[in-house]
Amino acid sequence: METVLSGIRPTGHLHLGNYFGAVKSFVKMQEEYNCYFFIADWHSLTTCPDPEDIRQSVKTILAEYLACGIDPEKATLYVQSDVRETLELYLYFNMNIYLGELERVTTFKEKARKQPNNVNAGLLTYPTLMAADILQHRAKWVPVGKDQEQNMEMARKCARRFNNIYHVEIFPEPQNFYFSDKAVKIPGLDGSGKMGKSDGNCIYLCDDDKVIRKKVMKALTDNGPQTPNSEKPEIIENLFTFLQICSSKEAYDYFNEQWNNCTIRYGELKKQIADDLCNTVAPIRERILEFSANQDLLEKISRHGAEKARESAAATLKEVRQIIGFNPNER
Ligand code: ADP
Ligand code: TRP
Repeated sequence: METVLSGIRPTGHLHLGNYFGAVKSFVKMQEEYNCYFFIADWHSLTTCPDPEDIRQSVKTILAEYLACGIDPEKATLYVQSDVRETLELYLYFNMNIYLGELERVTTFKEKARKQPNNVNAGLLTYPTLMAADILQHRAKWVPVGKDQEQNMEMARKCARRFNNIYHVEIFPEPQNFYFSDKAVKIPGLDGSGKMGKSDGNCIYLCDDDKVIRKKVMKALTDNGPQTPNSEKPEIIENLFTFLQICSSKEAYDYFNEQWNNCTIRYGELKKQIADDLCNTVAPIRERILEFSANQDLLEKISRHGAEKARESAAATLKEVRQIIGFNPNER
């Protein structure tokens, strides 16, 4: 069975974009692949967050992943900092990658621009830590968004270079995994093209019905179509995307026809979207509350995940140490 791995930084809550763009597919993938899903808490240290925030966010994301349907018996669900083997591999990769290669990564340049007073070495070596995350399990597929393309290229470089230096074939070159030809993109509610935490235009999986309704009712619209069968402007197309992901085909066709014959009423459309989003989110939200109220269970699940992840990483590291020339038993 091929191995799949993906990580998410513990910042804030999961939103509909994360769910429909990523986590829902993880739930499907756990049936067919050997999956590792983890919470990248070490990676979040590049911005020096408050310790209490990290503690809280890790628990939140764990509960939300589980509420979405990630099954700890099928996939290995763990917290990055529970698997110390990753750090050793990170060190080895840092010996093989050049400063110039790391400095050229655009996410590094962007972050350095955003936090000019804290351009730390962790920020620079973010891609080698990510490579260690992936390659410690020798994962073949990594489902991530377009923004991670360069980090993935660095992970392939780490694999290739290690194999070349030591004349081995230990690491496969991990590939980006795209769920379909056309990536699902959940739009924002403010007329922007993408729902995202930093844009503050999200519906969160933990939002209650009242909050969801309020957010949907505030979504931007225009004056309505003036000519039959006209093309939809982006803000209206965005609303139809929501119909597509959470409403019935009948509802979609009903409003599409109204659009085409210029009788559409946006109030009614938004009410339909709000109802259907509430129905989609409510069962997930209930499960989030259940998991969050059971901290013992969360701890048990993360301990179980850490054990499985450590076992896999330790096997890789044992081989790596031998290859590098660290053979404590033969000294
Ligand atoms: P954010 O943009 O809120 O910071 P992340 O960058 O942490 O979210 O994304 C985590 C995962 O969710 C990635 O796989 C990303 O591709 C997916 N994702 C985030 N926002 C969207 C969206 N609006 N539509 C589809 N997928 C998304
Ligand atoms: N860099 C990823 C992000 O910002 C998170 C991440 C860390 C990751 N390590 C990973 C993703 C390994 C995939 C594989 O979203």
